[in-house]
Amino acid sequence: MAQNNPKELLSKLHINYIESLDTRKDDLEYWMTEHLRVNGIYWGLTALSFFDSIETLKKEDVIKLLQQCQHENGGFGGYIGHDPHLIYTLSAIQILTIYDSLESINVESVVKYVSGLQNQEDGSFRGDQWGEIDTRFSYCAISCLSLLGRLDTIDVEKAADFVNRCKNFDGGYGSVPGAESHAAQVFCCVGALAIINKLDLVDSDLLGWWLSERQLKNGGLNGRPQKLEDVCYSWWVLSSLSIIGCLHWIDKDSLIAFILEAQDTETGGFADRPGNMPDVYHTVFGVAGLSLLGYPGLKEVDPVYCMPKNVMDKLNIEKKYRV
Ligand code: FPP
Ligand code: ZN
Repeated sequence: MAQNNPKELLSKLHINYIESLDTRKDDLEYWMTEHLRVNGIYWGLTALSFFDSIETLKKEDVIKLLQQCQHENGGFGGYIGHDPHLIYTLSAIQILTIYDSLESINVESVVKYVSGLQNQEDGSFRGDQWGEIDTRFSYCAISCLSLLGRLDTIDVEKAADFVNRCKNFDGGYGSVPGAESHAAQVFCCVGALAIINKLDLVDSDLLGWWLSERQLKNGGLNGRPQKLEDVCYSWWVLSSLSIIGCLHWIDKDSLIAFILEAQDTETGGFADRPGNMPDVYHTVFGVAGLSLLGYPGLKEVDPVYCMPKNVMDKLNIEKKYRV
């Protein structure tokens, strides 16, 4: 558990923590989170990229696992034998993009799977064959197709219309039209609109105000009014503020101090808040948040894709992949 109120980033410990995650096959927790394995690799690899240490995970092993997680219909499951879903499919494509290894899977079938999940009537996306609709899935589909350079396979105008219908009176966005604003959904909606060049639909002043209201007295950020602070919102809120050019609307120093306090000084990794157990999800979003805040020694993160900026720069996505 976190202790000693660390004031510095414990980079080496975090690298060791991520490296240890795949060697804990005796832990119940390892198997309890099996359905999230592909997500977990994306979170771990991305966190490692900010420490310039992606070689910590074995590329060949990761690619072999991903190949076994791809279904005939093109989508990826969270682990071997698990049902495909857009969330895991995006993580798989992000990992393969970081490794510059998209040729190791069947890309055309991924494009077909993802574009096939768009609802023609309103432009929304289903997460999988069972049909749940959520702006998270709009983001996953749009980010994924953008990374593959295939946004031409969906109705981008309708996709933007649906996201826009999820905008609320407070400038924030929810999961479906009429649902309350939630900072993680704001990231998904603003990120999706950024990729398809529709940021003019965002009410930046109002949204910037709502997002900056997420900062609490202890420096941490929450995801909605009346909720507790949580390290992962350092990512969802900050990335959104960054995309709309309002990152300076929050108090950076007190947020940095809050994130650093959530480090586990024994095992490495970040918890959702100081004193709790660490996990790889809060680790990637804690470090990505610090990267956005310009914490010294960290590699830069792309606020729209939540991927290493140097990888995105190489793709030249502005010119080739965005609409
Ligand atoms: C919070 O969930 C998170 C979300 C609603 C957004 C998840 C986003 C994606 C799957 C898109 C891909 C993301 C990236 C970074 C590439 P929660 O249930 O923990 O929220 P709570 O704090 O309200 O419990
Ligand atoms: Zn959290």
